[in-house]
Amino acid sequence: MSTPATTSIDYTERIPNNVDLASDRRLQRALEAWQPKFLHWWNDMGPTLHTEDVYLRTAVAVGREGWANFGHVHLPEYRWGIFLAERNPDRTIGFGAHRGEPAWQQVPGEFRSALQRLIVIQGDTEPASVEQQRHLGLTAPSLYDLRNLFQVNVEEGRHLWAMVYLLHAYFGRQGREEAESLLLRNSGSADSPRILGAFNEPTPDWLAFYMFTYFTDRDGKYQLGTLKESAFDPLSRTCEFMLKEEAHHMFVGTTGIDRVVTRTAQLMRAHDTADVRPFGGIPLEVIQRYLNFHFSVSLDLFGSETSTNVAN
Ligand SMILES: [Fe+2]
Ligand SMILES: [Fe+2]
Repeated sequence: MSTPATTSIDYTERIPNNVDLASDRRLQRALEAWQPKFLHWWNDMGPTLHTEDVYLRTAVAVGREGWANFGHVHLPEYRWGIFLAERNPDRTIGFGAHRGEPAWQQVPGEFRSALQRLIVIQGDTEPASVEQQRHLGLTAPSLYDLRNLFQVNVEEGRHLWAMVYLLHAYFGRQGREEAESLLLRNSGSADSPRILGAFNEPTPDWLAFYMFTYFTDRDGKYQLGTLKESAFDPLSRTCEFMLKEEAHHMFVGTTGIDRVVTRTAQLMRAHDTADVRPFGGIPLEVIQRYLNFHFSVSLDLFGSETSTNVAN
């Protein structure tokens, strides 16, 4: 791959990062041991379409001069790095019993299992969506859509890295075990499914993909927005950076659905009929059915109204 123009990240490192990984040899070795497992998973469960170079943005920095580099990358050589938003040394906890106290730089024992659980659930959704979307490259409506699909896929892969970094860096042996499990559960698997329902549903076609990126990535945005407020500062900064990438995922959904509906409306007008199927369009009733489904399963992701998880 080409060398990024930015100087803030050393891309000759095996794992590009802005968390000074080199200063923590133990953590670095643990993540370097996880890396080949990730790549194995990517080859096994990631996009099935063979790619040459794909024009992609790669996260490289958090600074003002921009955070991403654009270039042509062969998908398996995408550099999945670890990036946290800049630390605000004055940040305080914004809510609850600890309101006003300095944000935690380490995990307090009493919240350890709750935080680990949150991170594992968030982490589980990221590779799940890559698995759900793995065959879509074979039926892409255009090169433009194909590029967007791959962009979303590599970034969901990076979001997995983001959560795995937290598990490795702050949750000891248990965290490392959870990081392994994130690659062992699979979307739709009968034996070891992904944790949340929406992430075990198939994404068999592009209308489903647009609905997924419209609704489910939007849920992701809300979840990340919530985690960004976490009293545990490294989680907060990780999610803040992930949100930069998430905006594009929703853009893919919004503009995708927009184009489908526009085409349907054009065909309905041109042929004076609601049945646009013979003309290559998708009837409104079918679009509505997709919408009902994806809206419902995405709402379910917010959990139930009375929930001890939510309360904690
Ligand atoms: Fe994500
Ligand atoms: Fe996303």
